[in-house]
Amino acid sequence: MMLLAAATSAYHLPSAARAAPPLLLPRAPALMVAHAEAPPLEAAGRGGKGKKVFVLGGDGFCGWPTAVHLSNAGHDVVIIDNLSRRKIDLELGCESLTPISSPEVRVAAWNELSGRNMRFEYMDIAKEYDRFLQMIKEEKPDTMVHFAEQRAAPYSMKSGATKRYTVENNVGASHNAVCAIVESGLDIHLVHLGTMGVYGYGNSGGKIPEGYIDVTLPGGRERNILHPAYPGSVYHATKCLDALLFQFYAKNDQLRITDLHQGIVWGTNTPLTSKDERLCNRFDYDGEYGTVLNRFLMQAACGIPLTVYGTGGQTRAFIHITDTCKCIELAVNNPPVGGERVKILNQVAQTARVRDLAQLIGSMTGAKVQLTANPRAEDAENELEVSNDQFKEMGLDPILLDSAAGLLTEVQEIATKYQHRCDRSKVVSKSFWNKGTAKAAEGKTVDVGAKTVV
Ligand SMILES: NC(=O)c1ccc[n+]([C@@H]2O[C@H](COP(=O)([O-])OP(=O)(O)OC[C@H]3O[C@@H](n4cnc5c(N)ncnc54)[C@H](O)[C@@H]3O)[C@@H](O)[C@H]2O)c1
Repeated sequence: MMLLAAATSAYHLPSAARAAPPLLLPRAPALMVAHAEAPPLEAAGRGGKGKKVFVLGGDGFCGWPTAVHLSNAGHDVVIIDNLSRRKIDLELGCESLTPISSPEVRVAAWNELSGRNMRFEYMDIAKEYDRFLQMIKEEKPDTMVHFAEQRAAPYSMKSGATKRYTVENNVGASHNAVCAIVESGLDIHLVHLGTMGVYGYGNSGGKIPEGYIDVTLPGGRERNILHPAYPGSVYHATKCLDALLFQFYAKNDQLRITDLHQGIVWGTNTPLTSKDERLCNRFDYDGEYGTVLNRFLMQAACGIPLTVYGTGGQTRAFIHITDTCKCIELAVNNPPVGGERVKILNQVAQTARVRDLAQLIGSMTGAKVQLTANPRAEDAENELEVSNDQFKEMGLDPILLDSAAGLLTEVQEIATKYQHRCDRSKVVSKSFWNKGTAKAAEGKTVDVGAKTVV
């Protein structure tokens, strides 16, 4: 019933109405690099226990494998995405290292392989509030998983235009999501992807707790408050603003909200997206969107020195893409109750220092390391210890780098397979945090062997 209604409803637009066409790729029958533990597809429906889940931003790097994972787990998944990430590729003159199919081809391929009925809706949730609300009212999702934001800190710092776009898009999207839930009158659980960057890196002087921190106020009053926000870029600032909006809506309207402060995601495919080349996930390698570990693996595969910013003393939190999917499933299945404060979990497997990662990849591959002036305004060295107790209590046994040689090799094999698609001129970031970092970067790079960096 709902499907038939969707074809003519007010929220449905034909794909021809898009501002820019998706990058349509021919159907590719060859299988991807085989993943060691590809699980069988689960029986559809799980005895009727599946939820209807909107995956906002479900065409992106984290969103696509998560949409497939949730669909495989028996949930009824509808992807909503405005394809802005693909359009930014066009703007930057760069594209995913892996060839990715259009959303229509991906979704059709998944449905063909799984017998499921995933759907895709082209929509900008920051700008098309009325259509979004109408769709929510008609489809009545149980859960909305919200990935739909501009997610690169360097892109957010590139220019006045990208700063403003990032704030308007991210805060607009998040506010529209909570506002539409209230206006729909439905009891929808919102699962939002935040970032570890909201805490600052290593500022609370010890292990970073999950969202809330015990403090002693003047006069000795003890409180447990939202961890102070300490953003390091305009992008990170939008996640702090999101968190404040969620606090308000959870208090004022008893919305059920889970905010997941995620670490840097590495890897490309999951056991499910490895099943068919049409399901292949994106692999960002450029200086603006490529995240550190994936960028190192790609650089090693393409014979480019690993670019380490500053001394490489930055410690960051990491998680593999397969664990991202598992965490979201756990969050979907374990919602807070109405009236509870925002449930905040740290979605991380472990922390690691950037120069240690460079050393690890260098010793695996023989790649050289290049120290470059840091385009970012951040501490040269920091310690970082993070609590991830809540996911562990729910049963997550995360993939750790020490025991992930096979997965690191798998990413490198994918990078090697598609190295002909790499545009070397896009590898170095052209975004500087301020005039000082731009000036400091002028002509400063040092090639060193991997061993001498550590
Ligand atoms: N990738 C990481 O390492 C990482 C780490 C921490 C947190 N996160 C968070 O996870 C989320 C997903 O990240 P990702 O790496 O998949 O990013 P991505 O850019 O690959 O995916 C985001 C998706 O959202 C879509 N989108 C953006 N604005 C939209 C809008 N207004 N309406 C509809 N769709 C919109 C984009 O087209 C894209 O497909 C982001 O919120 C990001 O901040 C990612």
